[in-house]
Amino acid sequence: MFRFEHVYQGVLQDINFTIEKQDKVILFGPSGAGKSTLLFLLNRLNDPEKGDIFFNGKPIEEHSITALRKQVGLVLQAPNLFPGTVLDNIKYGPSLFGEWEDHQGKKLLDYVQLPSDYLERDVDQLSGGERQRVSLARTLANSPEVLLLDEPTSALDYRTAEEIEEVLECLMEEHQLTMLMVTHNLNQARRLGTRGLFISDGKIVEDGKIPDMFDQPKTEELAKFLEQ
Ligand SMILES: Nc1ncnc2c1ncn2[C@@H]1O[C@H](COP(=O)(O)OP(=O)(O)OP(=O)(O)O)[C@@H](O)[C@H]1O
Ligand SMILES: [Mg+2]
Repeated sequence: MFRFEHVYQGVLQDINFTIEKQDKVILFGPSGAGKSTLLFLLNRLNDPEKGDIFFNGKPIEEHSITALRKQVGLVLQAPNLFPGTVLDNIKYGPSLFGEWEDHQGKKLLDYVQLPSDYLERDVDQLSGGERQRVSLARTLANSPEVLLLDEPTSALDYRTAEEIEEVLECLMEEHQLTMLMVTHNLNQARRLGTRGLFISDGKIVEDGKIPDMFDQPKTEELAKFLEQ
């Protein structure tokens, strides 16, 4: 689905990997390692300074950027909702393409396990966890194939984070999504990931299966990171 060939961008150096459909990839490593930089290359919030990225066999820059961003949805740590109701927020993306139908509202809230009367609520009145669910619903409104998640639960308390994890787990299954998630929470990585990319100093130091790479790290660098 994605192929990186000798990609350089900012801190990232000579990044090579492929992602297959329905992979559930966890990007992890020290702060400043380049995780967000790498994630943002997948929906062209970043472009490589050097090297090539292919999406579905075609150079990523040859896809229309709007089509790419519909297919490759992004959810950040802080829910970036605009003022208005939940409905205003979730219909925004599809409306741009004349693709919104009102019956979708209830279904989208179902996906993120919020009651449908939330559609008319003002987003300012929601809790952090509820806002993150609405952010997810808004991304899902575009029917993405790939979900990019940059520390989606790190601003939430432990229980709320687990609830969001459960929502994510159901969504991956139901929509057969491909996922790339940055997380500092290794228990969350174990629960949601099938593959890990350990990134340090702008390089992929280890690329392996989860949980194997947590239980038997191949490099001293990863072993040290896991000890901390
Ligand atoms: N737009 C930018 N311009 C210049 N430097 C940047 C930019 N964005 C990130 N950096 C730098 O690149 C490095 C990698 O940043 P990045 O945000 O990818 O790290 P990260 O692994 O996501 O870290 P964290 O876990 O703290 O989120 C950092 O040193 C950062 O300061
Ligand atoms: Mg980051």
